Amino acid sequence: MRTIHTIAELRSALGLLRRQGKTIGFVPTMGALHQGHRSLVRLSKIQCDVTVVSIFVNPTQFGAGEDFAQYPRTLSSDEQQLVEEDVEFLFVPSAADIYPNGAATSVHVHGLSELYEGAIRPGHFDGVSTVVAILFNIVQPDVAYFGQKDAQQVAVLKRMVADLHLPVKMIVGPTIRESNGLALSSRNTMLGGQATSESVSLSAALRITAMSLRSGQGIADARDRGISEFKRLAPHGELDYLSIVDSETFRQQASFEPTTGLIIIAARFDTTRLIDNLPLDE
Ligand code: PAF
Repeated sequence: MRTIHTIAELRSALGLLRRQGKTIGFVPTMGALHQGHRSLVRLSKIQCDVTVVSIFVNPTQFGAGEDFAQYPRTLSSDEQQLVEEDVEFLFVPSAADIYPNGAATSVHVHGLSELYEGAIRPGHFDGVSTVVAILFNIVQPDVAYFGQKDAQQVAVLKRMVADLHLPVKMIVGPTIRESNGLALSSRNTMLGGQATSESVSLSAALRITAMSLRSGQGIADARDRGISEFKRLAPHGELDYLSIVDSETFRQQASFEPTTGLIIIAARFDTTRLIDNLPLDE
């Protein structure tokens, strides 16, 4: 694996491969890699000739008072994992490389970016869309890989790619979970003690809500059952939302639509905020 720090070096290495007709798969990450990231890397390794992984903890997608400083940074273990996955290129730019003149230009996906995560974390999706547009521009991948765990991010980025006619195929890999149901996330390492045990409430609440919908309960009743399950398992957790939405628009669904429906949940456990979701067609 070749670790590259500068845009010029990456562009020149990938340009050569592109001219040889090789397809480029890209997995953008913020590091603290886990099996969820590795499953995306494996998809890219199967589907593309060359795999590029980026590690960049993007400051512009963190709001004031959020966990930018605490976000786990584990570069040497990340590099080791990517060598094990036989990745060709690891791109580790600095903030000065990505935003050499500050961040005056941004991409905003209207509507979607204001709902749920966007309402609770104003500006978050602008940071995500902008950095992904920048990274796409640098890497120019044929295919890019994102995890279903960040379902609203996926919806925002798919919309950006469609609206800007970016020539990138978007592939979404399934959420990878611990045996107790907890969705893998880099932020799980920030949980401790009681927060760890209570965090299983997220996936349990999703499952109960899905079961209730499938057994014919209405949206409001199913949602109430999910919320009760969350409160039972996480008496100290703070629920931000549990909602049944359309997976593309993130508008609330009025009735059970298994092909497009998605149950989304977000909650705080001590100082750590986690999100999860369950597509209703699973
Ligand atoms: O999902 C993430 O890790 C980040 O939001 C991304 C897509 C790498 C952009 O910084």
